[in-house]
Amino acid sequence: MSNGAAPSRTGPSSWLGGAGAVTPNLTVNIAPSHPAGLMLRNPVLAASGTFGYGIEFAGLVDIQRLGAIVCKGTTLQPRVGNPPPRTVETAAGMLNSIGLQNVGVQAVIEQYAPQWAAWTVPVLVNIAGESVADFARLAALLDGVPGVAALEVNISCPNSAAGGTYFGQDPDMAAAVTRAVRDATDLPTVVKLTPNVTDIQPVALAVEAAGAHALSLVNTFNGLALDVRQRAPRLGQGAGGLSGPAIKPLAVALVARVAEVATVPIIGIGGISAGEDALEFILAGASAVQVGTMHFANPRASVDVLDGVVAWLRRHRIASVAELTGCGHPMLAVRERAVVDATAAGLR
Ligand code: FUM
Repeated sequence: MSNGAAPSRTGPSSWLGGAGAVTPNLTVNIAPSHPAGLMLRNPVLAASGTFGYGIEFAGLVDIQRLGAIVCKGTTLQPRVGNPPPRTVETAAGMLNSIGLQNVGVQAVIEQYAPQWAAWTVPVLVNIAGESVADFARLAALLDGVPGVAALEVNISCPNSAAGGTYFGQDPDMAAAVTRAVRDATDLPTVVKLTPNVTDIQPVALAVEAAGAHALSLVNTFNGLALDVRQRAPRLGQGAGGLSGPAIKPLAVALVARVAEVATVPIIGIGGISAGEDALEFILAGASAVQVGTMHFANPRASVDVLDGVVAWLRRHRIASVAELTGCGHPMLAVRERAVVDATAAGLR
């Protein structure tokens, strides 16, 4: 169970006594197994690739209110990305094939990290390599850089010819990348998983055993949209990754599945646009969430989700968001019920 928190079928134990005037405790530690931990002021993060380097959003929204920001996937060298069109709208989601366009790790260290160092909101750098050695080099370069709070290891990008899901679909390769990153840095390390696997549990277990402090899931689902008049893919690159409301139930199910086996915290991602969406992931077993695609429609989306979570906690008089993790998980709840029943019967 994530964060070591015992799930409860009946709900959290500490209800607020008054009429909801008390501010709920929103803090979450998303890396409790790291010596310093990674304590966030709240569980709502901005997802990689949807929030730039945070700086672009600073004039639009109070970014310091967020739990954390994850920057665009960062590679050793700058990348121009895939040919346009790189995003298309589908009936209930967005298909993208950006191709990891980014400024490269040196620019992140020299231009962005010094600005992040002056912020109170932590920034995680999402790193993407084409080889295990690339990941290790990226981690070593970012180790100890002021302004870099943690790494998110991207073994799940569906849009690069090398790396990406090739690592994330194979438990041994996923573990090798994780181990290499852990050996190269003392930074808290979150590993971002792909949904494009037959079973996500073996990858989650392998990555955790290799030293991941937390897991974030899910990245986008493989998708293809065709223009029937052109008889050709709508994306310049061909196929892409699907995100947005369409994938939320799929992502919640995968979070629940990982929560059955993982002991490190889970950060849920997939189609979150409101506070109750975030709470669904938390009830399924996540300790925190990332808001992604909705930023393209509403740059304030992550702050709106945060406000929605706070309003819900107040309305339901819940003292601490951390207590909700796993409370709605069917299997974990049944297991907890069995413990409660066994204890009541004097069997434990
Ligand atoms: O195409 C992209 O840049 C996507 C990256 C990702 O999904 O991690």
